[in-house]
Order: sequence, then C-alpha cells, then structure tokens
Amino acid sequence: MQTVRLQEIKHPLVSEQNLKLFILRLDELNPEMSGNKLFKLHYNIAEMKKQGKSTLLSFGGTFSNHIAATAAAGKIHNINTIGIIRGDEVINHTLETAKENGMKLDFVSRDDYRRKGSDDFIKMLHDKWGDFYLVPEGGANELGVKGCEEIMQHITINFNYVCCAVGTGTTLAGVANSLQTNQKAIGFMALKGADNITNEIRKYNTNNRFSIVSDYHFGGYAKINKQLSDFVDTFYKEHNIMLDYVYTAKMMYGIFDLIAKKRFGANSTLVAIHTGGLQGNKGFIH
Ligand SMILES: Cc1ncc(COP(=O)(O)O)c(C=O)c1O
Repeated sequence: MQTVRLQEIKHPLVSEQNLKLFILRLDELNPEMSGNKLFKLHYNIAEMKKQGKSTLLSFGGTFSNHIAATAAAGKIHNINTIGIIRGDEVINHTLETAKENGMKLDFVSRDDYRRKGSDDFIKMLHDKWGDFYLVPEGGANELGVKGCEEIMQHITINFNYVCCAVGTGTTLAGVANSLQTNQKAIGFMALKGADNITNEIRKYNTNNRFSIVSDYHFGGYAKINKQLSDFVDTFYKEHNIMLDYVYTAKMMYGIFDLIAKKRFGANSTLVAIHTGGLQGNKGFIH
C-alpha cells in the first residue's frame, strides 16, 4: 500500500480550542488520477477485466475530475476509454488532457445527458460504441464505494471526525462505512439543492455515521467568489497546500468556519480528506 501523508494543519483557531486538524493528502497519490478517483476506479477496473471487457465508458461535465481520472486510468491500465460529455463540444484543459490520454469523447446535449441512466440511451451507446463496461457519472456505484472504504486504511491515528467534500456522495458513503462507533464523517456539499443526497448515500451506507453540511456550496457547483479564492490563496501561503475550487476549498472553508463557531468538542481530532481535483483549477480564471 502506497503511503499517504497525513499532514497536521497548525492554526491558532485550531489550537485555541485544543483541537487537532490533519489533512490526508490523497492529492499527492498521482497528479492525474489523484484523490478519491483512484479508489473509485480500482474495483471497477478489476471488475471490467474480470468480465473480459477492454473498453470503459463513463460520463461527466466538461471540467469533470472523474473524466480526467478515467482517461488517465485508461492510459495507465492500457484500456480503451470513452467519455460521454454533457453539452456542446468544447476543448478545455480537462478534455484536452483526456484526449491525450487516449479517451474518445462523445458530446451529447443536456437533454440526452439527463437520460444517461435509461436503458434506451445505454442501448444507443452500445449501438454506437460496441461492448463496454459502464461506470456511472462520478464513479458512483457499489464498487466505487467499496474502493472508497479503503481510504480509511490510510488514516493511522485516532480521530473523532473525518471530513470530505460531497458531489455524488460515493466517497462519503465509503468513508462512513469504515468508521468506528465513536467516529463521525461530515460531508460538505459542493453543489446546491442536494435534498436527496442523504437517501442516495443510504443506498450504500447503513451505519448512519455521517452527516451533511450544505452551507458552503458558494452558490452551486463550480461557483466561486472572491471570499473563496482568497481563502484558497491564504491557505496555500500558510500551509503550502493547494485546494481545488470546486470541492476541497469549500470543504476546508466550511471546516474553519465550523471551528470558529465552536461546533467541535474540545480536544477533538479532525481529519480532512484532500480528494485531489487540482487539474480542474486550470479551468478557473479569477
Ligand atoms: C476533488 C473531488 N473531491 C470530492 C468529490 C466528491 O466525490 P463524490 O462524488 O464521491 O461525492 C469529487 C467528485 O468526484 C472530486 O473530484
């Protein structure tokens, strides 16, 4: 097992309340297939090989970290990858790199994209692309959760809270599945209007050792403002850790705000998971 750095974040706000805060540097695992992606794809690729398939198809938006990681995984594992991309054809850093890693891109309208779970749409994809192993958007399936359960093997200290950013909730479900009774997972929503997320997570998690915080989405998915980008800059200057704007910045901002509001019991130890996604920062101009 590759060693992952558990870096302590030293900050007056944290020490004043006798808290300890660490960040699990999954972002350092692999620059293109970093963070939670490695874990989400691991068992899916194993299953694909078991089924004797050689093509992996998945879905995402134009800035999708999951698409970037799937393409990189294709190159590393020598498998064909197809990305079904939402919206008009654009080539940005994410998609350019995906193409360089050998992914075939198929742009579909937003209406068609909404049908991505339906049998007739998937049949149409099979007619067009032939045989493939399908991984849902965001790597959100049972095998993705199973992989994310293994993230927790990298936390080798005693802790009370583990925090992660939430998109589909796959990572949070896996993390929560691996917790002891005295531990809790806190998921910070990266998008707005996720009323159903708790039910989605409960499909894969039965121990209920998680809660969702939805106050730090900054207006919605990939929405940022000066407050958030200043936070990212300061965090980088103080700790030499880059956060991604879409997910981990919002989580870390939320953690500091909750600490300031004294929401964690004194002497608690918190671990924040850096789930990577830094490739996406190249798409942000601010
Ligand atoms: C960097 C980063 N962090 C967190 C998440 C959220 O993960 P999940 O979809 O499992 O909730 C994602 C989405 O894949 C991501 O790219």
